[in-house]
Amino acid sequence: ADYETLLIERHDAVTLVRLNRPQALNALNSRVLGELIEVMAAYDADPAQRCLVLTGSEKAFAAGADIKEMSSQSFADMYGSNFFAGWEKVTATRKPWIAAVAGYALGGGCEVAMMADFIIAADTAKFGQPEIKLGVSPGMGGSQRLTRAIGKAKAMEMCLTGRMMDAGEAERSGLVARVVPAADLVDEALKTAKTIADMPPLAAIANKEMINAAFETGLAQGILFERRLFHGLFGTEDQSEGMAAFVEKRPGAWKGR
Ligand code: HXC
Repeated sequence: ADYETLLIERHDAVTLVRLNRPQALNALNSRVLGELIEVMAAYDADPAQRCLVLTGSEKAFAAGADIKEMSSQSFADMYGSNFFAGWEKVTATRKPWIAAVAGYALGGGCEVAMMADFIIAADTAKFGQPEIKLGVSPGMGGSQRLTRAIGKAKAMEMCLTGRMMDAGEAERSGLVARVVPAADLVDEALKTAKTIADMPPLAAIANKEMINAAFETGLAQGILFERRLFHGLFGTEDQSEGMAAFVEKRPGAWKGR
């Protein structure tokens, strides 16, 4: 399918999605959201695709939600349409996906990057939640995901001042998994995605689900959830194959069941 705001490339079992509204620094309007929902659902449904990378341009991952689209909206418009609720369809993606961030990841851009399972940042990346300067606040999960990622002190400072955080600080703070030179960003992200794509797919989903549970439950419940999923994986052929392959000193051949 062709999209107006996204460029899609297949790299074997990895899908690369580029946000592509260069004239607006990839500002996230309803069109981007609609297209991204379609792409993520298609990715989830396609057994041949095992990992996905979402990236932007060298200058901007995304400079936020589209301010021009929001500026004339009233409370009734926003509340009535449950504006931004569609992003929950993106976060419902079961299979792994990575955000590869270069340049600006501001407001909604930072929030979408945090929806990914993890972020790989270029050394040019700049993260921020500057919505307060527009008289609003994060609206796509930023106040919650940023606080869980970097803690109250830094999240509060970022949201109240609107300042940007560079890639080094983002890595030290736990916002990003890794920082790489800007010129290598997409290659590094694709390489990491390929490593994940080569893993047994059901185990990948289970690992993702149990880590996400750490943000939704208490410790005892989370550990029980982990153990049950772990037990459940012993019902898969890939578990027998994976352990047999280890003993026989050969790579596993995964079936995804
Ligand atoms: C719509 C945007 C945009 C945005 C940039 N553009 N960000 N359009 N929504 N979020 C447009 C500009 O209007 C301009 O269009 C073009 O992209 C290039 O941007 P410039 O500002 O000329 O580029 P530069 O001088 O390099 O500055 C880059 C920047 C700045 C520092 C990132 O663009 C900026 O501050 N953008 C807004 C960042 C922001 O506030 N994000 C949060 C948005 S609110 P023209 O047509 O003039 O060339 C959000 C909230 C979600 O995400 C929650 C609820 C609101």
